[in-house]
Amino acid sequence: MDEYADRMLVTSALPYANGPIHIGHLAGAYLPADLYCRYQRLRARDVVYVCGSDEFGVAIVVRALREGTTPQAIVDRFHPLIRDSFAAFGMSFDHYGRTSGPVHRETSQDFFRRLAGNEVFVLKTDEQLYDATAGVFLADRFVKGICPECGYKDAYGDQCERCGTSLSPAELLSPRSTLSDAVPEVRTTTHWYLPLGDWQKRLQEYVASHSEWKPNVLGQIGAWFTSGLRDRAITRDVPWGVPVPADVAKAAQVSARGKVIYVWFDAPIGYISATREWAQAQGDPSLWERYWKDPASKLLHFIGKDNIVFHTLMFPAMLMGHGDFVVPHNVPANEFLTIEGRKLSTSRGWAVWLHEYLETFPPDYLRYALAATLPESKDADFSWKEFQLRVNSELADILGNFVNRALTFAKKEFSGVVPPLVSPSDRDRDILSRLADFPGRIAVAYERFRFREAVALTMDVARLGNKYFNDSQPWKTRRTDRLACGNAIHVSLQLCAALSVLTDPVLPFTAKKLRTMLRLEGIRSSMPGAQPAGLIGWDGAGAPLLAEGHVLGPRAILFTKVDDAVIDAQVERLTRQGEEQGKAPALPFAESKAMIDYEAFARLDLRMGIVLSAERVRKSRKLICLQVDLGFEERQILAGVAQHFDPAVLTGRRVVVVANLQPRKMMGMESRGMLLMAEDRDGRLALVTADSEAGAVVR
Ligand code: 2FM
Ligand code: ZN
Repeated sequence: MDEYADRMLVTSALPYANGPIHIGHLAGAYLPADLYCRYQRLRARDVVYVCGSDEFGVAIVVRALREGTTPQAIVDRFHPLIRDSFAAFGMSFDHYGRTSGPVHRETSQDFFRRLAGNEVFVLKTDEQLYDATAGVFLADRFVKGICPECGYKDAYGDQCERCGTSLSPAELLSPRSTLSDAVPEVRTTTHWYLPLGDWQKRLQEYVASHSEWKPNVLGQIGAWFTSGLRDRAITRDVPWGVPVPADVAKAAQVSARGKVIYVWFDAPIGYISATREWAQAQGDPSLWERYWKDPASKLLHFIGKDNIVFHTLMFPAMLMGHGDFVVPHNVPANEFLTIEGRKLSTSRGWAVWLHEYLETFPPDYLRYALAATLPESKDADFSWKEFQLRVNSELADILGNFVNRALTFAKKEFSGVVPPLVSPSDRDRDILSRLADFPGRIAVAYERFRFREAVALTMDVARLGNKYFNDSQPWKTRRTDRLACGNAIHVSLQLCAALSVLTDPVLPFTAKKLRTMLRLEGIRSSMPGAQPAGLIGWDGAGAPLLAEGHVLGPRAILFTKVDDAVIDAQVERLTRQGEEQGKAPALPFAESKAMIDYEAFARLDLRMGIVLSAERVRKSRKLICLQVDLGFEERQILAGVAQHFDPAVLTGRRVVVVANLQPRKMMGMESRGMLLMAEDRDGRLALVTADSEAGAVVR
């Protein structure tokens, strides 16, 4: 076997060190990666898992200014909080770094220098917004203004938080500085750009060679390719970041003063820096190269969906431009997590914070509840009631109950010693053979990044155990048939032992406790670090692990049920938090319009239509082209909703059409009519619909 075939470098998105971690983060980039790495370590694969704090970027400067402190003070506060809450949650990083350190500075400057040397960049001098009061150029979040797409008045210079459109400061209407509220002036400045358009062909080939990537990931990339990739500025005039290397600037005859590398350029390089720091800690500083330079090593990035473009297009282009490194093998991005049915929002206080959660509950409860509902292919919801149900009806009633029954019985009837298996019945043999299949079945789910399925299958082992225990009725056979009773307990204990390995990725603390209860030794650890040869791991977990006569350890309770009152308190805390913080930024309803008479309304020809087909308009970020059946005729209608709906979702839907609107040309195509939509205060759009035939008059 190829010595390198099983080597992989796994990353989770580096979280910005300007706030604590919430469960949305966990469900996106962290828990899935941890499940994956723990599983891989149990399989004795060579995996290095790195992460770290993303400590640059304008958002951190803005927070510092708001609090009257320095960016360094902000990251010094949040880096340890994040690092420690991750550790308490059981995140098994091989290394957790930070991008403000010296290794990262050197690594990202070297990377930048190499790309400049390879003539990957283009330099452009153009006009940018400048705050003369504060004396700074207004990049990204230093500037606010009206979103040209949706009219939201507080859109940032990099993105409108209401409609999600990514923007550049120059696109904002009525811009103002977030630093001084001044109206900015326009000045010229020079920056390095990554001409992503030039890379489109290579990137398309690269992505095309990965048809196994998740559909949600491929879908998003496809949309970017359709709109066409554009040059991206990868330097900024801001006072916080990795400085542009002076030698590179000098060669380009640009002053490096005040220029830093854009945070989205340096952050993914943070994965390399973290691996270098890890290698140094291993006492073998060049070890990192085996994971980044050997083509047989697989690079895997776990992220949330908002980071897809950076990891599948920008970072691969950077890596290709560099030339020495492997490119991402897979980028298993997750969708978003909602909480109690509402979009998670830190600014509106609608979040469950990890460090707060850990004040009340053990980490494994949340690991399990989240893993069972991860937003793997579409958004998923976290609710406290469901959390309670998962803990009480699954962890406690299924897994905890089974283990407790088996161990209590073993203690009482067999003095805590594993009874022998003698002349096993068909049922005993059947269970043991089904158990033997589980590691392989669960492994397939893990390998395919189907973590919900992996967790459900794992719980099936405990379900199987309960059923077997019930069917075997050892409480009866203990008097009537000691041998059968011993066999039932023997087999049940083997299931418990297997569970102590198979549950380890998702319930690492519980699995360890269970192994102590079983006094099961010689099992691989799912934590980082070298391990002695000969330990039993995932592949051995389906075989009987406990010998006849083995003395079991002391029993303990694995899970405590969560009371209604505790859950109610959490819901209350969330609501209170939402109300308190929600007050200020709550968006106003759109203003009422002036009165009209009935005639004015009656002039509208509103009709029911059925969408026959819908597809994105090439080179447009916003437009979807629809063919709509109006009963009496078919219409082509262009709708600026590509950022809200997947075209596939629109096909077949009943819609209300303004049928007598003057035809309009957009992107060279004619639009004959308009779809009615309801827009809520968050800028979310919903179709206006009715259960009526095409052509029906709406009045
Ligand atoms: O979205 C974020 O939280 C970013 N800090 C993620 C960075 S991922 C990487 F490239 F480091
Ligand atoms: Zn907007």
